[in-house]
Amino acid sequence: MTAPMLELRDVARAFPVRDALGRSKGAVRAVDGVSLSVPRGSVLAIVGESGCGKSTLGRLALRLIEPDSGAILFEGEDLRSLSPAALRARRRDMQLIFQDPFASLDPRMTVEQAVAEPLRLHGIVPRSGERDRVAELLSRVGLRPELARRWPHEFSGGQRQRIAIARALASGPKLIVGDEPVSALDVSVQAQVINLLQDLIRELGLTFVLISHDLGVVRHIADRVAVMYLGRIVEEGPAAEVFGNPKHPYTRALLAAVPGQGHTRGAAALLEGDVPSPINPPSGCRFRTRCPHAEAICAAEIPPLADHGPKGDHIAACHLQDRLPPAAARHERDAGGERLKRLQAFFSDQRTGE
Ligand SMILES: Nc1ncnc2c1ncn2[C@@H]1O[C@H](COP(=O)(O)OP(=O)(O)OP(=O)(O)O)[C@@H](O)[C@H]1O
Ligand SMILES: [Mg+2]
Repeated sequence: MTAPMLELRDVARAFPVRDALGRSKGAVRAVDGVSLSVPRGSVLAIVGESGCGKSTLGRLALRLIEPDSGAILFEGEDLRSLSPAALRARRRDMQLIFQDPFASLDPRMTVEQAVAEPLRLHGIVPRSGERDRVAELLSRVGLRPELARRWPHEFSGGQRQRIAIARALASGPKLIVGDEPVSALDVSVQAQVINLLQDLIRELGLTFVLISHDLGVVRHIADRVAVMYLGRIVEEGPAAEVFGNPKHPYTRALLAAVPGQGHTRGAAALLEGDVPSPINPPSGCRFRTRCPHAEAICAAEIPPLADHGPKGDHIAACHLQDRLPPAAARHERDAGGERLKRLQAFFSDQRTGE
């Protein structure tokens, strides 16, 4: 069996927290015991509210920061075992696309210089071939090659994100992490850029980790979805399963909170409470302080990520997953189907309008 493109085993990373006088106030457990496997050529979405550890997880996956514990394997290989030179060579296989296309491009570099930089860094084409390769990359992301001599400020947000994508593709990566890659863009432009990413993933056989708080975007593009809450994964499975048959009360609440979806009142009210502090998270299940179903066991024991279903690939960390009210589950299943249809209609309109 071939190894997954990316595998995380019980990965944790904390950041020290200091008060105004520089005294230690403990640590934020930004990612706390996460295991994940991302098969080659697949799209895994990581969703969850702000501060739950999504970006930290993405940076760990690319080895931009190191874990405190646990293992991260890229094509079955622990990159910590590599020499600095081998690690540098590996870097071309992994790229990050940031949220903000205004901040991620150097204003003093033309488009050509920005896209050529990784080509040069990794010695991918001889200098004489650079211009052609940049032109090819630009047309791949839907930009006219003549634009190569222009400066970032001459482009719209969507165009700049396309340039950032061309730059990410330049090294010929196998794995791309997109950290909220469209959330800074206008809604109509978001759909175009998501469609572009989807085409590129398919055509180039990329493995993609999509970090997003926007479930509409995720539903459109992800094969699998991992839901994070306070540094942990609370549910993971095939996208259609997680959206259509959410097992964890937190996932249900997130889905019910998607705007304009005629959500159940109970579930919407649920997420109004604040996320507890990641410095001192609740005992047992971290979601229990906002969960309408919580029982004594939820405070006493950490629920394991487990599959209570027949297939074994849709897991949730909830003590009560077998006992949650079926009515709520059914409602959300229907809402999931409706939502999916509406989103698909929306995205296919966008595609034809592009
Ligand atoms: N370099 C850092 N130093 C200190 N704390 C950090 C650092 N990076 C992240 N954190 C903390 O770790 C937690 C997780 O942050 P992270 O940025 O991973 O969340 P996120 O899910 O990406 O949030 P958002 O949706 O707002 O981008 C937060 O409490 C954050 O304040
Ligand atoms: Mg983030």
